[in-house]
Amino acid sequence: MILNQLQEAIERHFAAGPSSIGDPSSMTAFLALRAALETGEVRAASPDPASPTGWRVNAWVKQGILLGFRIGTLKELPAGGLSYIDKHTYPIRHFAVGDGIRVVPGGSSVRAGAYVARGVVCMPPMYINAGAYVDEGTMVDSHALVGSCAQIGKRVHLSAAAQIGGVLEPVNASPVVIEDDVLVGGNSGVYEGTIVRKGAVLAAGTILTRGTPVFDLVNGAVLRASADTPLIIPENAVVVPGSRAVSKGKGQEWGLSLYAPVIVKYRDDKTDLSTTLEDLLR
Ligand SMILES: CC(C)(COP(=O)(O)OP(=O)(O)OC[C@H]1O[C@@H](n2cnc3c(N)ncnc32)[C@H](O)[C@@H]1OP(=O)(O)O)[C@@H](O)C(=O)NCCC(=O)NCCS
Repeated sequence: MILNQLQEAIERHFAAGPSSIGDPSSMTAFLALRAALETGEVRAASPDPASPTGWRVNAWVKQGILLGFRIGTLKELPAGGLSYIDKHTYPIRHFAVGDGIRVVPGGSSVRAGAYVARGVVCMPPMYINAGAYVDEGTMVDSHALVGSCAQIGKRVHLSAAAQIGGVLEPVNASPVVIEDDVLVGGNSGVYEGTIVRKGAVLAAGTILTRGTPVFDLVNGAVLRASADTPLIIPENAVVVPGSRAVSKGKGQEWGLSLYAPVIVKYRDDKTDLSTTLEDLLR
């Protein structure tokens, strides 16, 4: 199916509501979209220099992903669907009951409809949801989440327990975008369509949402999302978790502070050194 036919079919079946359930042609269209997502041929959002944010949301793709939930039925799925490939010098250890260690099953998963490029490293446990796009050379470390439709660039490091939120609805809402060469530090969270530009560094524990003002100490500016623009972290910004004093009301009286991400500097040689990865681990 060529792309504009696929788009037309998805939009039609999505608009059909519950009558698309059980319609074989809606399943055919969904499966074609899912396959195109997995090859990276279509994406939930694409780079677009003409757009003010540099990214264009492909609402029909998100409609197609939602269609897949609507027409899907509950079914027992085989476990252990992923195959594992790693250095043969570090195979999985096996334990016996007599060792007295309890090892609870579980692990990583990449859901159908996600694109994962060559050279991506997935450390267990981690999860990549439907519609996500993870580009070449990216590291998805243990306990990291790549939410539905999130767009992750090349050579990104999603550190241990980094959470990249998913945005499926509304269909025209932009997903979280992490551009090339970004480091998302351990335990960080990026949510609600936030765009992190190329080369930026989020220190461990940084949380970004639509409602989080970001304080740029270098340029003396406060960055915020607006009604039609998500929060955008500038290229090469180094963001660390900070706090700001509450300046009015009870908060001031009680001496409270609120969490405040702070741009302390823009990437320099020291940052490059701090963020260098062990190539041998790859
Ligand atoms: C942000 C980071 C990369 C350091 O970058 P850097 O360019 O070397 O930063 P610097 O050491 O020059 O620090 C610049 C300023 O930010 C402050 N700062 C640095 N890291 C900070 C942090 N995590 N929280 C709060 N402040 C921090 C420094 O104190 C310094 O401020 P000062 O000049 O007033 O003292 C590092 O702190 C970090 O978070 N790395 C990620 C760790 C991680 O999650 N690893 C993943 C393992 S899976």
